[in-house]
Amino acid sequence: MPSSGAHHRCPLRPPPPAPRWPAGMNYSRFITSVSAARKASPIRLLSELMEKAPPSLISLAGGAPNPDLFPFKKATVAIGHGSAIEIGEELMKRALQYSASAGIPELLSWLKNFQRNLHNPPTASYSPEQGQMEVCITTGSQEGLGKVFEMLINPGDNILLDAPAYSGTLAALRPLGCNIINVPSDQHGIIPNALKEILSTWSPDDSRHLPKFLYTVPNGCNPTGNSLTTERKKEIYQLARKYDFLIIEDDPYYFIQFEKVICPPYSLAVLFLVQERPKI
Ligand SMILES: Cc1ncc(COP(=O)(O)O)c(C=O)c1O
Repeated sequence: MPSSGAHHRCPLRPPPPAPRWPAGMNYSRFITSVSAARKASPIRLLSELMEKAPPSLISLAGGAPNPDLFPFKKATVAIGHGSAIEIGEELMKRALQYSASAGIPELLSWLKNFQRNLHNPPTASYSPEQGQMEVCITTGSQEGLGKVFEMLINPGDNILLDAPAYSGTLAALRPLGCNIINVPSDQHGIIPNALKEILSTWSPDDSRHLPKFLYTVPNGCNPTGNSLTTERKKEIYQLARKYDFLIIEDDPYYFIQFEKVICPPYSLAVLFLVQERPKI
């Protein structure tokens, strides 16, 4: 998880103008039928309700273990710049107990604020119906990718990959039976003209065959080490609008660059949501 070191702090950007479209992006055409069929598990919904209930309420519906029996009692995590994070007994009990599926509410709101300070995406101020920014905690980038790929890919789907690609991504993609199309890159990341040429084999209306998404590692790409420039992000985003594909940014190295990051660039999507409204 990113640290809150001083050089990562970035002044809050002015809030973007309110969205001009009544409802948020419609992502339903991207979602597989298996994913679309998923319903929230009642026992997980109950965990969410219990978070809001007074401590006097004892639910016999779920199997919450007695927190006094948890093996870990407290912890201190030393941070690189000298301070420490203390996890006391009460917090440790909460951390080890069942909680809402998306994560412990305080951690989620910390992460949402962090996203606001870092990227200030316009979706942060949307209503849930408009497609408000959401955060889901995973055990790492690989788990997040696995979830996203399984949510989006049907066998035979075309997908675009920043090449050469990270081997873990390839391992997650290959069993899903998609058609992987490599997009060449150089020292500044994906080459927009090469992407344009690949996409020109489809009509922008051919939603059945157009690639569903482009996967890229925008900073310190594994294995090439290259990073996408802002200019290229803009060009790629224009192509994403024209050919209606999603952009999946896998950005595990943003906070561990050798040179200090003064003010982070917008991510691909946020950069252009702020500058230019997608046509819906
Ligand atoms: C580009 C890229 N994505 C994802 C991962 C996996 O990240 P995590 O260890 O957070 O699952 C790696 C690890 O090497 C990586 O290089």
